[in-house]
Order: sequence, then C-alpha cells, then structure tokens
Amino acid sequence: MKRAEQEAYERDYAQAKKEGKPFFPYAIYKDHIVAILVFAAIIGMAIWQRVGVGPPVYTATSTFEPRPEWYFFFLFQMLKIFKNQNALLPVIMATFIVPNLLMGLLIATPFIDQRAERRISKRPFALSVAVLVFVGIGWLTYQGETGAVPVSGGAITFTGITPGSAAAAGQTIFANSGCTSCHMIKGSGGQVGPNLTNVGTLGKTSTYAGTIPVKVPGVKGPVYSGENWFVLHTECPTCATPGSAMPAFANFTAKEYQQLATFLNGLGTTYK
Ligand code: HEC
Repeated sequence: MKRAEQEAYERDYAQAKKEGKPFFPYAIYKDHIVAILVFAAIIGMAIWQRVGVGPPVYTATSTFEPRPEWYFFFLFQMLKIFKNQNALLPVIMATFIVPNLLMGLLIATPFIDQRAERRISKRPFALSVAVLVFVGIGWLTYQGETGAVPVSGGAITFTGITPGSAAAAGQTIFANSGCTSCHMIKGSGGQVGPNLTNVGTLGKTSTYAGTIPVKVPGVKGPVYSGENWFVLHTECPTCATPGSAMPAFANFTAKEYQQLATFLNGLGTTYK
C-alpha cells in the first residue's frame, strides 16, 4: 500500500471512530429491530396466507419426479452438469467440491485482496467475480426450473415389442402405474413382489367362479389362463392367487387390461 494512501486511510479511520456510534448498544439495538420486523413479517404471512397440506403421499408411484424446492435448483442443475462421470463423483463435485471451493475463495478474499480501497467502483475484479457468481446461480436456477427431467420407468427396451403395438401400450401402462415400485423387470424395479422378467413362461392358471370387477371382452371364467389370467390377476389379485398381497388395480379400461395382459403374458417368451 502506498504511504499517502495509508495515511489517508488512518486519518479517515480515526475520524470515523470519533464520530461513529459504538457497536454496543447502538448496532445491537438496530439488529434487534430488524430481526423483530423480519420475524413479524414471516409470522404475519404465515397467518395471512395459510399453506395447505398437499395430497397424501402415494408410495407406489413410479413416475414421481424428485425435484427440490426452487432455491436448490442451482445445486440440482449442477448435478446434471457433472453427470455421466462415475456414480459418486457428480454428487461430490456438485454438492461438496464446487460450493466449498467458492466458500473457500470468499473466506480467502480479504487475504488475497489487501488493498485499503473498499469502494466497489475501484474493485472491478471483486465486482466481476460477485456478478459472475450471481449470474451463474441465476442461470443454473433457471435451467433447473425449465430443464427436462428424466421420467423413470418405460426406459427398459424389449426385443419383440414394436412401437404402437398392444404390448408397447401395455409396457407404458406397466411403467406408469406403479408396478415397477414392487416388481423387477430386467434388473430394474422393486423387490416387494416377484420378478416378472419371465412371468409369461410360468403358465399361470386359476379357477375363479365369480365375476370380475371390469368386464373385458373374451375374458371369462371359470378357468383363466394365458392373457386372461393376467387380466384376472390385475383386476383382482386374490381371485387369481388366494391370499395375494398385491393391491387390486380396478381403474383401468377393458382395453388397458388387455394391453397390459398382452405385455405380461409375452414376458420371457415373445418379449425379452
Ligand atoms: C404394492 C406392491 C405391488 C404393486 C404396486 C404391484 N404388485 Fe404385482 N405383486 C405383488 C406381490 C406381493 C405379488 C405376489 C402375490 C401374487 O402373486 O399375487 C405380486 C404378483 C404379481 C404377479 C404374479 C407373479 C407370479 O409370479 O405369480 C403379476 C403378473 C403382477 N404382480 C403384476 C403386477 C402389475 C401388472 C402391476 C401394476 C399394474 C403390479 N403387479 C403392481 C405386489 C405388487
């Protein structure tokens, strides 16, 4: 630092110290006032605009897109920037290394930049770094908000399923109806129910004399086998497999039951 600059600085400092207000109680008092105002605003908004409770959690969903709150979008988006490396590195890079590097830089700033000058107009470098960080966070937040989110399920490909066919429709229904949260197919899915990769080869047959909840053309008892068995099992698992712990799926249309059954019945035989 230049001599004259140093002297000017010390003069200013002594002057400010003489005229200024003491930290205690003056600054503390002001902090308290602001803190109380901020809390009052938060409490006021909470009372004035009550936040409702969302719909109950549906645990069997397989199409849920996990997304953070908007103010974490920049971290969320950073994960995507570092993806396609190995499984652990993106998480460590985006949530640990990069943020901590930036924090470290912030802590180091007073040691790197030791000039007395504190006016922002005289510190173009510090100013541009700050602007860059804010613009970067803003841009990442925007990208995280608008960027596409990969939808889970449906990503498994089968030989033998042609786009637009009944089996393809069945596969989509399977992927979007929560089946994958309990059932594994070709190595992806849950483990609550049996693995369905080869379920079409099992030759399932059941005898059920009652009527099924949703009428599907060509599907009737008392003996159900082949695709008909899968319709019966989906509509009413306990009718096909007494004591089944699988929830009944009673809300599909007749056509959807049929498409799903076509898909399931071919698993391991036609669709691999
Ligand atoms: C909450 C977990 C759960 C969900 C969701 C679920 N299942 Fe199941 N599923 C099971 C369990 C447990 C069994 C074993 C009992 C049985 O065979 O009924 C089973 C059995 C099956 C079977 C018979 C397999 C065999 O080897 O006998 C088929 C086929 C089947 N599920 C298809 C489906 C389809 C299609 C869906 C989505 C529409 C689905 N499951 C959703 C739990 C689930």
